[in-house]
Amino acid sequence: MNAASDTLDPRAVESLLAFWADAGADAVLLETPIDRIAEGRRAPPKPTPTIRAAVTPQAPVPARTAPDTTAAVADAKRLAAEAPDLAALEAAIAAFDGCALKFEGAKRAVFSRGDPAAPVMIIGEGPGAEEDAQGAPFVGRAGQLLDRMLKAAGLEGRVFITNTVFWRPPGNRTPTLGEQLACQPFLERAIELVQPRLLLLAGGASAKSILKREEGILSLRGRWFDWTSDDGARQIPAMPTLHPAFLLRQPGAKKRAWADLLTLTERLDRPDRPD
Ligand code: URA
Repeated sequence: MNAASDTLDPRAVESLLAFWADAGADAVLLETPIDRIAEGRRAPPKPTPTIRAAVTPQAPVPARTAPDTTAAVADAKRLAAEAPDLAALEAAIAAFDGCALKFEGAKRAVFSRGDPAAPVMIIGEGPGAEEDAQGAPFVGRAGQLLDRMLKAAGLEGRVFITNTVFWRPPGNRTPTLGEQLACQPFLERAIELVQPRLLLLAGGASAKSILKREEGILSLRGRWFDWTSDDGARQIPAMPTLHPAFLLRQPGAKKRAWADLLTLTERLDRPDRPD
């Protein structure tokens, strides 16, 4: 390690990586190419002799598999189904212990804000520091930008805002699949209760989890998909867009998010027009 990398703030590195991942850059390339075919022709290197006495036996590393969230999801489904309205759903979320994020430093559960009968539901990734402090989603700098854009697009007061997870991930990291799965029944119940006509999915972590797709947000954004409920009974048109936090870091991308918002507003206000 050199002096510069010694002084790197791990949170800054994590945030930079999240930024590139959000932009769809999921591979790391070297400056100079490596001829792997030529490498393969060379004799394999002699194994380095191991100093047995110095090696502490290690427990086998378990293969990386999706976490078993079966019990948590079943619990969440039952609690969500029992909630007759949004207030009861919020209380059920706050009492739910099946999402690991609840025990990783979050101050409180953060559920929603906005019109409970809104025609548009906006689903972000997860609460940040400001949301954790205030108990409502999208109230920090990214949320303020979102509100300005909604107002300019004529959507002020016409949205219900929530997230894929209801507790702040430590250091604002991206929520894991297991955390999103544990929260999903509550999100589905919220969609069932609000009955929005359209969904707007803010950022890659939201779009991928809600639509169960693997592409990066730059390829998903601005296109219409059908969100389908877990039981297959309900479908709602859903559009992924760039996350407002991404727009704060990349102001040049705002025009694309703005175009997405206008496409959504057009469909909302003129449903008979072809897309
Ligand atoms: N980012 C999100 O995805 N959701 C919030 O609530 C705040 C910031």
